Amino acid sequence: MTKALRRPLIAGNWKMNLDLQAGRGLVRALRENLSDAAADVAVCPPFTLLAAVAEELKGTPIRVGAQDLFWEKSGAYTGEISAEQLSGVGCSVVLIGHSERRRYFGETNETVARKLESALRANLMPIVCVGETLEEREGQKTYRVLETQLRGALSGLAPTEAGKIVVAYEPVWAIGTGKTATPAQAQDAHLFIRKTLAAVFSPEASLAVRILYGGSVKPDNIDALMAQPDIDGALVGGESLKPVSFLRIIHFQSPAKTN
Ligand code: 13P
Repeated sequence: MTKALRRPLIAGNWKMNLDLQAGRGLVRALRENLSDAAADVAVCPPFTLLAAVAEELKGTPIRVGAQDLFWEKSGAYTGEISAEQLSGVGCSVVLIGHSERRRYFGETNETVARKLESALRANLMPIVCVGETLEEREGQKTYRVLETQLRGALSGLAPTEAGKIVVAYEPVWAIGTGKTATPAQAQDAHLFIRKTLAAVFSPEASLAVRILYGGSVKPDNIDALMAQPDIDGALVGGESLKPVSFLRIIHFQSPAKTN
C-alpha cells in the first residue's frame, strides 16, 4: 500500500481551551466551510464539550475525539472517563499518550498500552502519540525513544489490529514553540516509525497505518509536510482553534498540485 492508499487524517487537538459557546462556534464554522476535503477530519475538544460538539457535528463527516481516557469500563475511579462513556456521547476517536500527559500527568508506555487496548475494545480509533524531547534529539536518542514508546504501546496488539490505530509523531520541542520539524526531519522520523511498525506487526500491516505529524503545524507548512511519502496527516494544536487556519490545513494542497 503506497501513501496514495492511506487516506489523510487531519485532527485538531484543542487541549484545555474553549468554553461551550466558543466550541460550538468553532465547529459550526468548520461544518459550514468544509468542502470536499481529501482528508478525514477530527476535532478533539475538552471532555466538557464532547457531547455538545458531537451534537453539532452529527450527520457531518467530521469525527469527534477525546484527549484521553481511562482503561476500566466503569467504577470507583474519581475523575476518570472510560472508552465506553466516550463512545456513548458520540466520540469515535481518542488521543492516547500525548507528550503533555506524559510530562505533566505521569503517563507511561504501560498506561498507554492499557488505554490503547480499552479504546480498541470500545471501537474508538486511537491516535497514539510518540515523540522525543529536545535533549533526547540532541543526545542522538530520537530513534531509541521512538522505538521504546512504540514497542511499549503496541506490543500487546495482534497484527490484524494494526490497521485500526493511528500514530502521531509529535517531537516535544516542536509543540507550541512555533518551531516545526523540517519536512525532511519529520519524514525521517516517520520512516523510522513505519519500519518499527513493520518489525512489531508485519511490513504489510505497517503500510496500512496512518502516521500523523504534530508540532506547530500551520497553513504555511502543511503542504510541504504532506508532500512527504510517510506523512499521512497532521495533529494540530493552536492552529486548530482558528477556523480559517484549520480549514486551510484540512484543505492542504496535494503534492501533485504543488509540484
Ligand atoms: P501545536 O500545533 O500548538 O504546536 O500543538 C501540537 C500538539 O501538541 C497537537 O497534539
